[in-house]
Amino acid sequence: MNTNDLLKKDCFTTEEIVYLLGANGNDKTLLFESAARCQAENVQNKVYLRGLIEFTNCCSKNCLYCGIRSNNRQVKRYTMTDKEIMDAVRFAWESRYGSVVLQSGELISDGFTRRVEKLLRKIERLSDGKLRVTLSCGEQSYDTYRRWFENGASRYLLRIESSNPELYKKLHPDNQHHRFETRMKCLEYLKKAGYQVGTGVMIGLPFQTMEDLAHDLLFMKQIDVDMVGMGPYLEHLDTPLYACRHQLLSKENRFQLALKMIAVLRLLMKDINIAATTALQAIDPMGREKALKVGANIIMPNITPGRYQDFYTLYENMPCTAEDNEDYMASLEALITLAGHETAYGEWGDSEHYRRRDKGQGTRKKDLTESVRPVSVWLSTKKIKGATVNGKQ
Ligand code: 5AD
Ligand code: SF4
Repeated sequence: MNTNDLLKKDCFTTEEIVYLLGANGNDKTLLFESAARCQAENVQNKVYLRGLIEFTNCCSKNCLYCGIRSNNRQVKRYTMTDKEIMDAVRFAWESRYGSVVLQSGELISDGFTRRVEKLLRKIERLSDGKLRVTLSCGEQSYDTYRRWFENGASRYLLRIESSNPELYKKLHPDNQHHRFETRMKCLEYLKKAGYQVGTGVMIGLPFQTMEDLAHDLLFMKQIDVDMVGMGPYLEHLDTPLYACRHQLLSKENRFQLALKMIAVLRLLMKDINIAATTALQAIDPMGREKALKVGANIIMPNITPGRYQDFYTLYENMPCTAEDNEDYMASLEALITLAGHETAYGEWGDSEHYRRRDKGQGTRKKDLTESVRPVSVWLSTKKIKGATVNGKQ
């Protein structure tokens, strides 16, 4: 394959993506340059900020890779009070972040649904509806998603983790609480409820192939997401998947693979929002900046109070939070400027993709059912626009 010719295309087959993910030397430079051009042309040079609030590390699930899985008794569990959460929200609002992300483990109860609803209303009041709210609270019922949407949440992050059902099975306990089909259904619900939907995967997992990663990118295109957050898998001592650590690529190779995933995704989905994730920073202190240079346009400063930061350890060496660090904004801004971008203060930063999709569809309360493409199509036909999963047209 000729990399230059390949990079002129708008859509790639599985084989072509696998080729790009394997690029090294000059080919890798060409890929990164191409992604940077695509970023400048389609999402300008702006970087949007989302203040991340990890409001509880309690989780009912037991994903085999995650440090806060319910079976991990080493973790001290915490739940922030409403006041603590609202203080963090105020910090984001006063720091002119365009939006906040409320993230938690997966908790399913009427009480939890109501609590999030109440928080959403408080945030709406605090900012006069001018702060966008993203939720990342796992799998919920359609009714719960809808209620949160009606109360002011406009974006939702739910990573598929891997779009390969077989690999998904290997990463999760085999029981009804950890079903690939449920996760897919939830992505469908979220679209139907009217959210800007974000998904993502972990990169460099045990048992994961390059084809799996290529399919992950095609999956994101297939379900037409607005936002993506993906980063390297990082092993955690107190998890069952730690036993597979000998199979892993080196951290540096996982990091490079994650950058290539971001670059190829930018070429495949030119106008979506792509996060420079914390897991990148956990491997390389300049990781997020490097991601901004090859296609990412979102940074999520962690504004969870410092006293809780040691307890939300999805993986080891999670970087510290923004709170209690006076120089944080200055260094963040320097990082963004160094990457050749501009910090977009006070802007929502909805993805261009969403804006185009939403044009003419009115307010967020409108029923968007008709624009939803069933994600189950992924499982049945495995057809992707202009390409098929196995590269055969
Ligand atoms: N390494 C990297 N990412 C992880 N996550 C959970 N555990 C790990 C890990 N060990 C990610 C998952 C999840 C998100 C909240 O954190 O993708 O969706
Ligand atoms: Fe819970 Fe999410 Fe961790 Fe799974 S990945 S155990 S759902 S916090």
